[in-house]
Amino acid sequence: MAKNLVIYYSRKGENYVNGSLKQISKGNTEVVAEYIKDAVGADLFEVDTVKPYSESYMNCIDEAKKELQQNARPEIKNELTDISQYDNIVIAGPCCLSLTVGSHAA
Ligand SMILES: Cc1cc2nc3c(=O)[nH]c(=O)nc-3n(C[C@H](O)[C@H](O)[C@H](O)COP(=O)(O)O)c2cc1C
Repeated sequence: MAKNLVIYYSRKGENYVNGSLKQISKGNTEVVAEYIKDAVGADLFEVDTVKPYSESYMNCIDEAKKELQQNARPEIKNELTDISQYDNIVIAGPCCLSLTVGSHAA
Protein backbone atom coordinates (compact mmCIF):
# COMPACT_ATOMS: atom_id res chain seq x y z
CA MET A 1 0.00 0.00 0.00
CA ALA A 2 1.25 3.49 -0.88
CA LYS A 3 2.61 5.59 1.95
CA ASN A 4 1.22 9.12 1.92
CA LEU A 5 2.27 12.32 3.65
CA VAL A 6 0.37 15.59 3.93
CA ILE A 7 2.53 18.62 4.77
CA TYR A 8 0.33 21.53 5.67
CA TYR A 9 0.14 25.00 7.14
CA SER A 10 -3.11 26.19 8.64
CA ARG A 11 -4.05 29.05 10.93
CA LYS A 12 -6.56 28.92 13.74
CA GLY A 13 -7.73 31.94 15.74
CA GLU A 14 -9.47 34.91 14.19
CA ASN A 15 -10.37 34.28 10.56
CA TYR A 16 -13.00 35.23 8.02
CA VAL A 17 -15.93 32.82 8.07
CA ASN A 18 -18.80 33.52 5.64
CA GLY A 19 -17.81 37.16 5.35
CA SER A 20 -17.24 38.05 8.99
CA LEU A 21 -14.42 37.63 11.49
CA LYS A 22 -14.82 34.72 13.89
CA GLN A 23 -12.61 32.64 16.19
CA ILE A 24 -11.98 29.17 14.80
CA SER A 25 -10.30 26.34 16.67
CA LYS A 26 -9.08 24.66 13.50
CA GLY A 27 -8.09 26.17 10.14
CA ASN A 28 -9.64 25.04 6.84
CA THR A 29 -6.41 23.54 5.58
CA GLU A 30 -6.10 21.39 8.70
CA VAL A 31 -9.65 20.12 8.13
CA VAL A 32 -8.73 19.24 4.53
CA ALA A 33 -5.52 17.52 5.66
CA GLU A 34 -7.59 15.37 8.00
CA TYR A 35 -10.04 14.53 5.20
CA ILE A 36 -7.14 13.29 3.09
CA LYS A 37 -5.83 11.25 6.03
CA ASP A 38 -9.24 9.64 6.56
CA ALA A 39 -9.84 9.05 2.85
CA VAL A 40 -6.56 7.47 1.78
CA GLY A 41 -4.46 7.12 4.94
CA ALA A 42 -1.60 9.53 5.46
CA ASP A 43 0.84 10.88 7.99
CA LEU A 44 0.27 14.54 8.79
CA PHE A 45 3.07 17.06 9.21
CA GLU A 46 2.07 20.52 10.38
CA VAL A 47 4.35 23.40 9.49
CA ASP A 48 4.40 26.03 12.21
CA THR A 49 6.49 29.10 12.86
CA VAL A 50 8.67 29.59 15.94
CA LYS A 51 7.25 33.09 16.29
CA PRO A 52 3.48 32.80 16.00
CA TYR A 53 1.53 35.17 13.79
CA SER A 54 -0.85 37.49 15.59
CA GLU A 55 -4.16 36.06 16.80
CA SER A 56 -5.80 39.12 15.27
CA TYR A 57 -6.55 38.57 11.58
CA MET A 58 -5.80 42.17 10.57
CA ASN A 59 -2.51 42.26 12.48
CA CYS A 60 -1.56 38.94 10.94
CA ILE A 61 -2.11 40.38 7.45
CA ASP A 62 0.15 43.34 8.35
CA GLU A 63 2.85 40.98 9.61
CA ALA A 64 2.57 38.87 6.46
CA LYS A 65 2.84 41.96 4.21
CA LYS A 66 6.02 43.07 6.02
CA GLU A 67 7.51 39.59 5.67
CA LEU A 68 6.72 39.60 1.98
CA GLN A 69 8.36 43.01 1.46
CA GLN A 70 11.43 41.87 3.38
CA ASN A 71 11.57 38.51 1.61
CA ALA A 72 11.61 37.06 5.12
CA ARG A 73 12.16 33.39 5.84
CA PRO A 74 10.61 32.90 9.31
CA GLU A 75 12.09 30.09 11.33
CA ILE A 76 9.88 27.02 11.46
CA LYS A 77 9.40 24.93 14.59
CA ASN A 78 9.75 21.47 13.26
CA GLU A 79 11.71 19.92 10.45
CA LEU A 80 11.10 16.96 8.23
CA THR A 81 14.41 15.26 7.89
CA ASP A 82 13.52 12.24 5.77
CA ILE A 83 10.73 11.90 3.24
CA SER A 84 12.22 8.92 1.42
CA GLN A 85 9.66 6.50 2.88
CA TYR A 86 6.74 8.28 1.15
CA ASP A 87 5.26 7.44 -2.25
CA ASN A 88 2.96 10.48 -2.39
CA ILE A 89 3.37 13.88 -0.74
CA VAL A 90 0.61 16.50 -0.65
CA ILE A 91 1.57 20.07 0.26
CA ALA A 92 -1.38 22.14 1.47
CA GLY A 93 -1.84 25.70 2.68
CA PRO A 94 -4.28 28.61 2.54
CA CYS A 95 -4.63 29.70 -1.12
CA CYS A 96 -4.10 33.40 -0.29
CA LEU A 97 -0.54 32.69 0.76
CA SER A 98 0.47 32.09 -2.87
CA LEU A 99 3.62 30.34 -1.65
CA THR A 100 5.57 33.59 -1.65
CA VAL A 101 5.66 34.15 2.10
CA GLY A 102 8.80 32.77 3.69
CA SER A 103 7.28 30.36 6.16
CA HIS A 104 5.24 28.85 3.33
CA ALA A 105 7.77 28.87 0.54
CA ALA A 106 8.66 25.42 -0.74
C1 LIG B 1 1.80 34.37 6.47
C2 LIG B 1 0.35 34.65 6.21
C3 LIG B 1 -0.01 35.38 5.09
C4 LIG B 1 -1.35 35.67 4.84
N1 LIG B 1 -1.68 36.42 3.75
C5 LIG B 1 -2.98 36.71 3.54
C6 LIG B 1 -3.36 37.51 2.42
O1 LIG B 1 -2.53 37.94 1.61
N2 LIG B 1 -4.67 37.77 2.23
C7 LIG B 1 -5.63 37.31 3.10
O2 LIG B 1 -6.82 37.58 2.89
N3 LIG B 1 -5.30 36.55 4.17
C8 LIG B 1 -4.01 36.24 4.41
N4 LIG B 1 -3.65 35.48 5.50
C9 LIG B 1 -4.69 34.99 6.42
C10 LIG B 1 -5.13 33.61 6.03
O3 LIG B 1 -6.02 33.71 4.96
C11 LIG B 1 -5.85 32.95 7.19
O4 LIG B 1 -5.64 33.57 8.40
C12 LIG B 1 -5.41 31.55 7.47
O5 LIG B 1 -4.07 31.35 7.13
C13 LIG B 1 -6.32 30.60 6.83
O6 LIG B 1 -5.93 29.28 7.17
P1 LIG B 1 -6.83 28.10 6.67
O7 LIG B 1 -7.00 28.27 5.16
O8 LIG B 1 -6.12 26.86 7.03
O9 LIG B 1 -8.15 28.24 7.37
C14 LIG B 1 -2.34 35.18 5.74
C15 LIG B 1 -1.97 34.40 6.85
C16 LIG B 1 -0.64 34.15 7.10
C17 LIG B 1 -0.26 33.34 8.31
